[in-house]
Amino acid sequence: MSSMLITNIKQLIGTRTESHLLRGKEISALPTIPNAYLIIEDDEIAAYGSMAELPTTDRQGSDQMDVSGQFILPAWCDSHTHLVFSGTRETEFVDKIKGMSYAEINEKGGGILNSTKKLNETSENELFSQAWVRLEELSKLGTGAIEIKSGYGLTVEGELKMLRVIKKLKEKSSLSIKSTFLGAHAYPLAFRENHQGYIDLIIKEMLPVIAKENLADYIDVFCEKGFFSTSEMETICKAGMTYGLKPRLHVNQLSSMGGLQTGIQLNAVSLDHLETMSSEDIAAISQSNSIATLLPGAAFFLRMPYPPAREMINANCGIAIASDYNPGSSPSGNMNLMLALSCIQMRMLPEEAINAATINGAYALGLGEELGSITVGKKANLIFTKPIPSIAYLPYAFGSNLIDQVMLKGAIIH
Ligand code: NIG
Ligand code: FE
Repeated sequence: MSSMLITNIKQLIGTRTESHLLRGKEISALPTIPNAYLIIEDDEIAAYGSMAELPTTDRQGSDQMDVSGQFILPAWCDSHTHLVFSGTRETEFVDKIKGMSYAEINEKGGGILNSTKKLNETSENELFSQAWVRLEELSKLGTGAIEIKSGYGLTVEGELKMLRVIKKLKEKSSLSIKSTFLGAHAYPLAFRENHQGYIDLIIKEMLPVIAKENLADYIDVFCEKGFFSTSEMETICKAGMTYGLKPRLHVNQLSSMGGLQTGIQLNAVSLDHLETMSSEDIAAISQSNSIATLLPGAAFFLRMPYPPAREMINANCGIAIASDYNPGSSPSGNMNLMLALSCIQMRMLPEEAINAATINGAYALGLGEELGSITVGKKANLIFTKPIPSIAYLPYAFGSNLIDQVMLKGAIIH
C-alpha cells in the first residue's frame, strides 16, 4: 500500500463526513478546514483534519508533501460534454458574429450536421487522437470525471464509432468517464422527411449493438423545435431504458415545449440546459428527482439568456454546472471558466458554483458516493491551487489558470 501525507494546506475545501446531492439552500455551504492535513492511501482519501490534530504516528515509508499557501479542493465533475468530435466550427462562430442565429445556422446544414459530416469522414483512430488531446488538456484544468456523448455520427457506423472511441478513452484515461448515446441529436439529411425511419434506425439498428457491446451508460435526446419532439423523445428513451440506459436529456434550451415535464416522467437522472424556463417548469423540476444541469458556456457562446439559477436554488432544485464542451455551442471544457460564468452571469455564489461543479456534478454522473468531496473512502481526485487569497478568487480571476497540480486517483498527473 502506498501512502502520502499532505501538510500545511492553507484551506481544504469541500470536506464532508456524509455525502448527498445538495438541494436548494444546502448548496451554499462549502465546508472548509483551514491549515489542514490530508492522508491519501493508494487511490483513496484515508484521513484529513486540522494540522493541530495531525496524529503523531510514525510515518516512515510514506511520502510527504508540504503545500504551504495552497488550497486543495475536489477535482471538477463535468457531467455534460460532447468531447468526441472532428475538427472545429469557427466559420460558424464568425457567421454568428455577423448576425446569423444558431437556429439559422442549423437550417443551412451547418451546426450539428456540419460536425456530422466531418465525423463520418474521420477514422476511429484519428477521432481518438483528437479527443485524447482535449481530455489531457481538461485534466490539467482540474477535471477528474466527465460525461461524453455520441451524437455526431447519426448513422449506425458513425454512432458506434463515436461510442467505441469513448470506450477506449475510458480504458486508457485516469479520468472517470461516463458514456451517453445521443443518436437523437439531430435528424440526418437522409431522414429529414422520414423521422420514423431514423427513429427505427436508432431503436432497431443502433441500440441492440450498443447494449451488446456495452457502449453506453445513458441515453440522451435533443428535445427542441426542429429536432426531436417530446413524444419522439419518449419513444427513444423508453427503448433505451429496456437496455438499462438511464435518460439524461437536452431540454428547454431554445423553447419551453414540455421537454422538461416529459423528462421528469421518464425519471431522467439529469435535465440539462434549461435556458428557457417558465415558472411552471421551475416548480416541476424542483419537485422531481432530476438534477438541473446548467451549461453557462453555451448561453455565453450563443449570446442567449442564462438559466434562472437563483430562482431554481430558491425553489429547492438540485443544481449541477457542466461545460457542454462541443464545437458548436461551447468550445471550451474549462470548468473554472464555467464557475466564473455561473457567478458573474447567474449570480451564483462561489461556494454554490463549486458545489455545483463538484459534489452535485458527481451525483449527476452517478459517482456521488465515489467523487466530488473530501470524504474518507472517496477517490483522491484533487485540485492543488497556486497560492490564492481566498476560494472566491478562483471565479473572480476568471482569465487565470490558478491550478498548480492535479491528482487523479491518488497520482499527480503531469
Ligand atoms: O448541447 N443543443 C444541442 N447540442 C449541443 C450543441 C451541439 C452542436 O452545436 O454541435 C449543445 O449545445
Ligand atoms: Fe449538449
